[in-house]
Amino acid sequence: MELMYENILIYYFSGTGNAKHVAQWFAKVATGVGVRATLVNIDRLGKIELPELSGKTLIGFCAPTHGFNLPPIMLKFIFRFPKRKDTDVFIINTRAGMKLSKLFVPGLSGIAQLLPALVFWLKGYRIRGMQPMDLPSNWISLHPGLRQKVVDSIFERCERITKNFAERILTGGSKYKALLSLPFDLAVAPIAFGYYIIGRFAIAKTFVATNACNQCGLCVKQCPVNAIKMIRNRPYWTFKCESCMRCMNNCPERAIETAQSYTIVMWYLIVSLLFPWILKKFYSISFIHINSDSRMANTLEEIASWGIGLVIIWLGYELIHRLMRLRIFNNLVAYTSFTKYRFWRRYKAPRKQ
Ligand SMILES: Cc1cc2nc3c(=O)[nH]c(=O)nc-3n(C[C@H](O)[C@H](O)[C@H](O)COP(=O)(O)O)c2cc1C
Ligand code: SF4
Ligand code: SF4
Repeated sequence: MELMYENILIYYFSGTGNAKHVAQWFAKVATGVGVRATLVNIDRLGKIELPELSGKTLIGFCAPTHGFNLPPIMLKFIFRFPKRKDTDVFIINTRAGMKLSKLFVPGLSGIAQLLPALVFWLKGYRIRGMQPMDLPSNWISLHPGLRQKVVDSIFERCERITKNFAERILTGGSKYKALLSLPFDLAVAPIAFGYYIIGRFAIAKTFVATNACNQCGLCVKQCPVNAIKMIRNRPYWTFKCESCMRCMNNCPERAIETAQSYTIVMWYLIVSLLFPWILKKFYSISFIHINSDSRMANTLEEIASWGIGLVIIWLGYELIHRLMRLRIFNNLVAYTSFTKYRFWRRYKAPRKQ
């Protein structure tokens, strides 16, 4: 194999281990052919310091897809990443892969590749590879964790894809598999925007700790963005939470639930009662003269409604966090959430490499 690089540096963020596995697979291929590989986990990383690397260096970025975009922690990292001319980079986003019978079903990237590629291009980098990786979906707030057999078979396939991708890039080739789904990705780009400015904050307030919690503090310690606080002797999820799913999947007592019934009721009340009430009030203010059918009115309505909706979600969460101290209320929230039941598995990436 004729190699193009002497060093490879991979920055990764991983909520539940998928992106970490991909980074490790890539590094394994590199070290196997004599390229020096360094992996950097960006959890809680303060300053970005590029190490002194002699010889030609390839830089990789590896992270999950969240809401058709990269997670905020990785996006902020990429925006802060130093400019550098004539350096090659590759981007891998892990997505929600599924397996239906024998068919591997891919996830959808949205702008998870396009946005970082644009940022790196503007910073002077050469983009050598854009590869989505359909590892098992870890979004267990929405669906049960996949069976271990399915997880293992998806992992086997993705390890092969990573190996091929790594060999191609390390030998000076390029691969832009991510561009194949461009029309679909562009179609969901507005959702990515909505998720980034509003959706993720609402979703952050769906986690609760049940009476099974023994206050071990592991979730607080492991959160990559310091989003959990111990308040009133119980984990409290702040708006900083990026829903990476690490805490919920790793809690040794299985005490973290997505409060699904509470969330459905809350969101239903906000959308069906609060939003129409706000709009009525808005148009009844005498000095506001906007045609209610105009685009401007629609945008203002959306911003005002969601802004107030988020305040209500925050207040509701304050209340529920206090009420969770009452055993009866705690049980009510827990047992009306699917995540409480055994059939709703947690997601575990395989340990072996
Ligand atoms: C909040 C959240 C949003 C997600 N959004 C998407 C998405 O837009 N598209 C997709 O294909 N997968 C999506 N997923 C699935 C993850 O990207 C996927 O499971 C990824 O492999 C997890 O990687 P990790 O274990 O490194 O965190 C989402 C998962 C979560 C938790
Ligand atoms: S990891 Fe689980 S048991 Fe430990 S503090 Fe967090 S919720 Fe409680
Ligand atoms: S609170 Fe949990 S889900 Fe949210 S970012 Fe931290 S570890 Fe991830």
